[in-house]
Amino acid sequence: MKLGIIGGSGIYDIEGLGATEEISVETPYGKPSAHYRAGKIEDRKVVFLPRHGADHSIAPHKINYRANIWGFKSLGVEKIISVGAVGGISGNLKPGDLVVLDQLIDFTFGARQSTFFEDDKVAHIDFTEPYCAEMRKTVLSVAENIGLAVKENGSYICVNGPRLETAKEIRHFSMIGADVVGMTGMPEAALAREAEICLCGMAVVTNYAAGISKNKLTVTEVIETMKKSTDNLKKLIREFVLQLPAERNCDCKDALKNAVM
Ligand code: HPA
Repeated sequence: MKLGIIGGSGIYDIEGLGATEEISVETPYGKPSAHYRAGKIEDRKVVFLPRHGADHSIAPHKINYRANIWGFKSLGVEKIISVGAVGGISGNLKPGDLVVLDQLIDFTFGARQSTFFEDDKVAHIDFTEPYCAEMRKTVLSVAENIGLAVKENGSYICVNGPRLETAKEIRHFSMIGADVVGMTGMPEAALAREAEICLCGMAVVTNYAAGISKNKLTVTEVIETMKKSTDNLKKLIREFVLQLPAERNCDCKDALKNAVM
């Protein structure tokens, strides 16, 4: 089983990944965000991709999500751990918290290429549970075993960005049930499902969302908090990779069954 890791803001590599090999992938959708870096964590094969490019030059709305997921699929990746920075909306969240996501609300409104099926076939994948239940179960038990506090549930609302939100937008998002806000969760999750790849979404709260705290949001705050959280995150990811079952017993692997017209 090969595992993929998508790093968000502040995560551009995975230490302990052993000797890595750079793999350049061409896809029918163009170029992925960067070279994939393939290596091993102990005996587990891992492929890493920085979502915003190796030098963080790709804005959230410009990321080629289809190429990124297609590239993983073409490299034989069956499960992906996706890490992203988010603003905390729910009252129980503060900067530095780590959330294992369980739901998604898509507010990118079709502004991004969000399906692999648009020419000769149409697919309507089931997306009731957007993240892999089996991976969620594993990561929660790993976090408990290593004594790392994580939030077990969280609904991620994805906005198009790149600007941050207004205070009223965040209030609106809160009312419709969003716990965290980010700019990259979609269409990444839907494309992974179309590719029948399991996806685990992990969000690092880097700031209070707009209007939640009196302070003005800055990118420096986002990057600084992300940096502080990366040690814990990398520890968790390492153990998570080692504990993930090699076989898949979830529905993700059959996502296209009964989904294609
Ligand atoms: N809003 C949107 N995306 C983000 C934020 C935020 O407050 N923080 C990190 N990514």
